[in-house]
Amino acid sequence: METKVTMDKIVNLCKARGLIFQGSEIYGGMGNTWDYGPVGVELKNNIKRAWWKRFVQESPSTYGVDAAILMNPRVWEASGHAQSFSDPKMDCKSCKQRFRADNLIEEHSKGKVSAESMSTEEMQAYINENKVKCPHCGNFNWTEIRQFKLMFETSRGTIDGEKDVVYLRPETAQGEYVNFLNVQRSMRAKVPFAIAQIGKSFRNEITPGNFIFRTIEFEQMELQNFCREENSFALYEEFKAKAKQFLLDLNFNPEHLRYHDHEKLAHYAKAACDIQFLSPLGWEELNGIHHRSTWDLSRHQEYSGKSMLYLDPITNEKFIPNVIEYSIGADRLTLALLTEAYDEETLENGETRVVMHFHPAIAPFKVAVLPLQKNLSEKAKEVYALLSKEFMCEYDEAGSIGKRYRREDEIGTPFCVTIDFDTLENDTVTLRDRDSMEQIRLPINELVDYIGKRVKFN
Ligand code: GAP
Repeated sequence: METKVTMDKIVNLCKARGLIFQGSEIYGGMGNTWDYGPVGVELKNNIKRAWWKRFVQESPSTYGVDAAILMNPRVWEASGHAQSFSDPKMDCKSCKQRFRADNLIEEHSKGKVSAESMSTEEMQAYINENKVKCPHCGNFNWTEIRQFKLMFETSRGTIDGEKDVVYLRPETAQGEYVNFLNVQRSMRAKVPFAIAQIGKSFRNEITPGNFIFRTIEFEQMELQNFCREENSFALYEEFKAKAKQFLLDLNFNPEHLRYHDHEKLAHYAKAACDIQFLSPLGWEELNGIHHRSTWDLSRHQEYSGKSMLYLDPITNEKFIPNVIEYSIGADRLTLALLTEAYDEETLENGETRVVMHFHPAIAPFKVAVLPLQKNLSEKAKEVYALLSKEFMCEYDEAGSIGKRYRREDEIGTPFCVTIDFDTLENDTVTLRDRDSMEQIRLPINELVDYIGKRVKFN
């Protein structure tokens, strides 16, 4: 039987074991912000590394960039965000809580009604006709639906009183579009090619209480493929498959993933699909694959006055490429992998062990070095020094060996190396496997090779 994972269990484990803490906690927190602790930062960095390896390092025609978060405000006019990047919001006049109208409808109908393709008027009518009540105080006392802008504004200006509004980027994608020709020319790239980046994005989200699923500051891993129109649908299908394969290779249960094709498309889009995962909240979007036609580059050509035409070196044709986008949130993927990895097992002695079955490549620590007794610590520290040159390692000499194994299981460390008195005699150690809990004896000089082979992401 599968373990029932709840958001509370994940939040509590993350706090207790140094993965994720509430943002600004000592000041009572700051809604929808979270801080990664010493264990969590390793997990998220490993996830980003695995993505970069798969989609940049192993893809000869994909080029990485790291664009500025603050961009010329004209970028957001060209992208359409300045005019229309907003959520339909309603305030409860009784308890002053703020909600998204589409979420209220979906929760009220228990997921049977999709608000995705509803207009503001249709949402208003549904809420009035069905007397949808405030989930917080239970009253039916709403303001009208109003559009709530999602872009954070800040300002720049050196002279007192003269300030220009600039925006914190709500997606990383625009940094890829505006550098289309810089990358193409400097790298002598030929269509089809792609630009990828990982970076922070910011959205003034009004949906609270779902941990790192939806936050106001988050990291995106985005990739824009530039291609000819005639190849665009094949590339779209290819990326739907590649995006899913990446998740399966990170040990997702195939039954916890599904495609969700969008019913309502943006006017410029030719197709759009999410991959959803089965989270403790139900089926939720994990990533998106979007066929964006020539819209983004055409708009930047129009707003910047700079040509975005690609010159085909063989046919001498000039054209604006189509874009196939693949976008996934690093934090949302971290949450999905936490819920996938979580397990509670009953041991032979009746005790329960909580274990995170992370793919070894994303496990925060690859190996823990544990001296059986404190007087073995000198030898254990030698082994730690050897292994920590290659891997993130833990060193723990506090408490019984059983308790130390449990602590490592809870953060998903794939291997524990135990130093005992035989180690002093023959330079061998015990290596314990997290998942099977089986132990083998290995010479110290074979450890790096043995562990290294098993913690790779292919
Ligand atoms: N450039 C396209 C784009 O940004 P999106 O569907 O708005 O598309 C892509 O976002 C992905 O970014 C989502 O599938 C999700 O994984 C992540 N994401 C979006 N908003 C988020 C938020 N507020 N908090 C955490 N992750 C978010």
